[in-house]
Amino acid sequence: MRLAEGSTLLVTGGAGFIGANLADRLLARGCRVRVLDSLERPGVERNLDWLASRHGDRVEPVIADLCDPAAIARAVQGVAGAFHLAAQVAVTTSLADPARDFAVNLGGTFALLEALRRERPGAPLVFASTNKVYGDLADIAFHPGKDGYAPLDPALARHGVSEERSLDFHTPYGCSKGAADQYVLDYARSFGLPAAVMRMSCIYGERQMGTEDQGWVAHFLIRALAGEPLTLYGDGRQVRDVCDVADTCDAYIAALERIEAIAGRSFNWGGGPDNAVSLLTLIAEIGRINGEAPRVEFADWRAGDQRWFVADTRAADAALALPPRKGWRAGLRDLAAWLAAERRAAAAGTMRPAPSPERVS
Ligand SMILES: NC(=O)c1ccc[n+]([C@@H]2O[C@H](COP(=O)([O-])OP(=O)(O)OC[C@H]3O[C@@H](n4cnc5c(N)ncnc54)[C@H](O)[C@@H]3O)[C@@H](O)[C@H]2O)c1
Repeated sequence: MRLAEGSTLLVTGGAGFIGANLADRLLARGCRVRVLDSLERPGVERNLDWLASRHGDRVEPVIADLCDPAAIARAVQGVAGAFHLAAQVAVTTSLADPARDFAVNLGGTFALLEALRRERPGAPLVFASTNKVYGDLADIAFHPGKDGYAPLDPALARHGVSEERSLDFHTPYGCSKGAADQYVLDYARSFGLPAAVMRMSCIYGERQMGTEDQGWVAHFLIRALAGEPLTLYGDGRQVRDVCDVADTCDAYIAALERIEAIAGRSFNWGGGPDNAVSLLTLIAEIGRINGEAPRVEFADWRAGDQRWFVADTRAADAALALPPRKGWRAGLRDLAAWLAAERRAAAAGTMRPAPSPERVS
């Protein structure tokens, strides 16, 4: 599919971190973007304001809940394609309120699939899934190396976890996202919906409202910039492959553009082995950037936490023909600079107020 100038694309969760970056890219390419978002993540209205200030009325905000099938059905009218990123995004929140997590992540995805099947058959969909579909990887033997956990299996250590790995949903969030991931793939199989799934590791970058519950790279930087202590759940040797949001947007757009070739497939997506870093190593780098080591407090491991997860991105790299990804140190530095500028703007009171978008019920 070619992204035609003037065509309308739906981005659910388009006010969120990844969604706003993706919407900005699509708008920069001349598309119109319908942003469906309930704005329930605190602060994301600023992202919508940012999009509107850059792209004017080519941004169509639809403030609605994914749990409202009638609103979803209206939101897909006339779209050339859809990116589905809206979600209840935190494992912690899913444990506190599994019913809402289920309704938003599985019910909302189902509503979108049905809306596309009935109203826009043939319109492609790219879905934001998660590496949590692979569970806690407790069967893999690790050694707790100086720079964090690493698998004993040399092939796994070199390449990361591939799509061949069995699904093993842990926590309500893992179950709701994993079930949604399977529904998307089955709508491709059963109904010919041109859809693909991106199972993501940790994405970081500009416009991330990182909190202790989700978006830990930005959260660590925000706390460190404010001179506040960081809490590490576990021993801090957990390893993640972190990926810059700009590279992630490249992958999503390439997935939509190549949907004819990749429909029905899922891809592991993250920074890959070159961007695998332990929490402690990343915190040390924050100390170098800020000129002062952050204060760190330790707490118990969290439910379902993986000791190590690194995505094997070879399938995505081959299918999507992507440029090399930004290295995590450079990305961290860029995010720190952006967050520092945001802090200065907030202190100076120069942040623009949020617009009042159309409310759909
Ligand atoms: N950021 C990551 O590292 C990461 C990793 C794996 C998967 N994901 C997935 O990527 C997607 C985007 O994540 P993000 O980091 O940009 O999160 P985000 O919280 O910044 O964005 C999600 C957006 O969805 C909106 N939303 C939440 N509930 C909604 C509802 N009921 N109806 C409509 N909108 C609703 C929020 O207001 C928010 O703007 C999510 O589906 C998430 O599960 C993210």
